[in-house]
Amino acid sequence: PALCLFHQFPRIRPCGLAIRRDGDAHVTPGQLGPLFLLADCQTETGKAWVCPTVRQTLLQIANDPTLDHEYLPVLGFPEFTRAATELALGRESRAVIENRAGGIHTVGGTGAVRIGAEFLWRWYNTSSPTPIAVYIAFPQWGNLRCIFQDVGFTEIQPYHYWDTVRLAVAVEGFLEVLESAPDCSIVVLHAPEETGLTPKQWEKVARVMGRKRLFPFFDVPAQGLASGDLDRDAWALRHFVAQGFELFCAQSFSKTFGLYDERVGNLIVVARDNETLVRIRSQLQKQVMGTWATPASLGARVIATVLNNPALLNKWKQSLRMLAEKIMLILEKLKEKLRILGTPGCWDHLTAQSGTRSFTGLLSSQVAFLEKHKHIYLLGNGQVSVCSINSHNLDYVAQSINEAVSSTEGRAQGLSWAEME
Ligand SMILES: Cc1ncc(COP(=O)(O)O)c(C=O)c1O
Repeated sequence: PALCLFHQFPRIRPCGLAIRRDGDAHVTPGQLGPLFLLADCQTETGKAWVCPTVRQTLLQIANDPTLDHEYLPVLGFPEFTRAATELALGRESRAVIENRAGGIHTVGGTGAVRIGAEFLWRWYNTSSPTPIAVYIAFPQWGNLRCIFQDVGFTEIQPYHYWDTVRLAVAVEGFLEVLESAPDCSIVVLHAPEETGLTPKQWEKVARVMGRKRLFPFFDVPAQGLASGDLDRDAWALRHFVAQGFELFCAQSFSKTFGLYDERVGNLIVVARDNETLVRIRSQLQKQVMGTWATPASLGARVIATVLNNPALLNKWKQSLRMLAEKIMLILEKLKEKLRILGTPGCWDHLTAQSGTRSFTGLLSSQVAFLEKHKHIYLLGNGQVSVCSINSHNLDYVAQSINEAVSSTEGRAQGLSWAEME
């Protein structure tokens, strides 16, 4: 009889990933249908935002008779990786000028984290007598921990930059964690543009990380969407580069170009010199060959076209500014509505944050209330994707939050990893 391999492992169980999206069986429609405050950039009618510059560029590409569907090189579309790397580090960056920074075109920002994490596991962890610790922000983008665990890291520790009780940035706690971390650990600096840390606070973080020889792994999913200014949002990354750190930076274009389904990312490697960069990129190339062989081209072609054309670049920057302003405005409006409704508590923290995600400060019981009674879905830690709140659902969201807070006691408090999952 044939080998029924899968059947031999009854212990393999569904892993129970709690992905809540339209179409999930347990989702029931509320007054406005199920409301997912988890979605990324959306229009006023709740549809995924399409960047006008992207639409225009796609048409241009579709009508270009010189383009074919030949495979890209393993490291991807060179015009894309060069422009993307310069976008993050700045054209005037010494690392760029000295040719010691380069990108690898990946399958989304997720692919960039994966390839970088795998590299660190193979070359760094295995050459260390003790397991290398990885520090990941908590609460965080769930995939980060999953990726580092999946490639083999066992010592994964959380750090906090947001005080869930005071509902404010908590750099002291973050610095304490870094001080107590084993020397030479990896620190994933995720969504630095959205943390709310000031340049002075980032300088302190960089000083501690330099002294403790901690490796920075940046994860930049929304450059430009926090402040509306691409350079301002890249401040922390550029500061680390200027301080002479060698680092990885996983760059995503899903949110900023509204190209979620095209899966475009770039893993930026900043090395001390060009010779090191060449060696590292060569090993990463081998990993890519064994993973997805070569990346898809369309999304990267769109981005490269926009980034390398001053007129299109300007238009895209305007769209980013508009999105960032819309996010700020919706948080202002939500805060005002909660004030008018007399919702218990202070909601200033809503407007003190910037970027696509916001800590609402809601307790997990209040999140559960919203799910059960209002069919509003957000992360268990009370984080929402602000872009999914619009003028059509704002009143309903505010009213529902008011009911959730009024009907349950207490304020937000920290959750453990286990509670998050
Ligand atoms: C912090 C963070 N990093 C990376 C990503 C992944 O981006 P991509 O869609 O490019 O894989 C996300 C997506 O939401 C994110 O929030």
